[in-house]
Amino acid sequence: MTSNKDYFVIEGLGGAKKLHGKISVSGSKNAVLPAMASAFLFDNPITITNIPDTEDVKRMAELIKGLKARISHKDKRTLTIDPRNAKKTILEREISKRFRASIILVGPVLARFGKVSFPHPGGCVIGARPIDLFLEGFQKMGATFFDNGEMFTLESKTGKLNGTEINFKLQSVTATETFMMAGILAQGTTVLRNVALEPEVTSVAEFLVSCGARISGIGTTTLTIEGGDLLTSTIETKYEVIPDRIEAGSFLILGALAASRLTIEKCVPEHLAIPIQILRETGAEIETGKNFIKIKSGENNSCSAISIRTHEYPGFPTDLQAPFTVFLTQSCGEGTVFETIFEGRLNYISDLVKMGADIKMWDAHHITIKGPVLLKGKEVEGPDIRAGIAFIMAGIIAEGQSIIRNAYFIDRGYEKIEKRLRKIGVNIRRVTS
Ligand code: UD1
Repeated sequence: MTSNKDYFVIEGLGGAKKLHGKISVSGSKNAVLPAMASAFLFDNPITITNIPDTEDVKRMAELIKGLKARISHKDKRTLTIDPRNAKKTILEREISKRFRASIILVGPVLARFGKVSFPHPGGCVIGARPIDLFLEGFQKMGATFFDNGEMFTLESKTGKLNGTEINFKLQSVTATETFMMAGILAQGTTVLRNVALEPEVTSVAEFLVSCGARISGIGTTTLTIEGGDLLTSTIETKYEVIPDRIEAGSFLILGALAASRLTIEKCVPEHLAIPIQILRETGAEIETGKNFIKIKSGENNSCSAISIRTHEYPGFPTDLQAPFTVFLTQSCGEGTVFETIFEGRLNYISDLVKMGADIKMWDAHHITIKGPVLLKGKEVEGPDIRAGIAFIMAGIIAEGQSIIRNAYFIDRGYEKIEKRLRKIGVNIRRVTS
């Protein structure tokens, strides 16, 4: 496991647009985690391919093993999860607290065994991140709730959840996924309204349908799930993790900032339609194909500033907000960012200002950025995965050396980032302690 003390050292380009070449996108962090959790809906092993080698995947595997399901790796990118011996219903506390997506397991485990215990999930420090939707929804499906101060327990006295109607007061990705999965093993019909439309949700839903789940409304804001027995996977029903659109978007923004020519391979440009449109409006030259994006920029061509507001899919993703803010520090003029999803997701701004960025923070959701400003290399520490990658990008464009502390956060979602960035010309090394 990466130590929390690992850090990256970057020698910045001082504003030169020198990166070039090709960079491939890994499997999506936010798709592989619900796919792994879905193993508890099956009466036989499931196989998942295109697995990214990231810390959150390792933590999810540890949690699943802790429940006594078996996990085996056919190769680096393929794993099989066999839920047949699973019997435990307690999610290991310390592991669960390391990543919020651990909560996705709650739905499948509760629906299968009638009971589940878990701590308040941890993860990125990006605001309150309550779990009220989860607790209210499972109680509506017939579970009782108990909090012993350290762990929450949800239990259904009949051993089964009941289908019901759940109207989410806001769109939540992981809540949509966990209730969709719970509905598959519930008694009767579950209707979920105002669900998240992120491609990760849709692709896992389609996988489950291919294995016999009765889910209708996929790709709309209302999902209807007919409950039933455990699903069965076949040789044909492998789940191939979709490309990580957030990683692809981060590389695209890096290309706009620091590349002469960069090709982002193995991605789905359609999943980034809005960020691509916004970048084009700033003047970035972007070409897209079925599974690649090319970006080119000359030494002197700066992009113009623009204003964005984050939004649930297909809007501008909150997970690209920090990288885009770094982009705005190099754009000509004044841009604004309105972070609408999380109230703690601008926590990284003070360190970016330390690097020389001209940013005014109005409140927890609004900032104004004036550019272009040549950033200066500094020692910084990202408070979450996405701020971490944004600091790597800031370090790459800055003048001088930057130290990015807490590599663990970046490793949670980006596979061997330093090796891949070195191939396109970034001077970055990891210091392991
Ligand atoms: C997922 C993604 C994360 C992304 C986020 C928003 C995964 C593993 N993670 O996180 O990368 O940043 O979507 O696109 O897929 N909320 C409540 N009560 C709840 C649950 C959520 O108020 O019970 C709020 C959150 O505080 C937030 C909003 O709902 O303001 C959306 O959060 P949500 O979609 O749940 O984020 P995650 O699923 O945790």
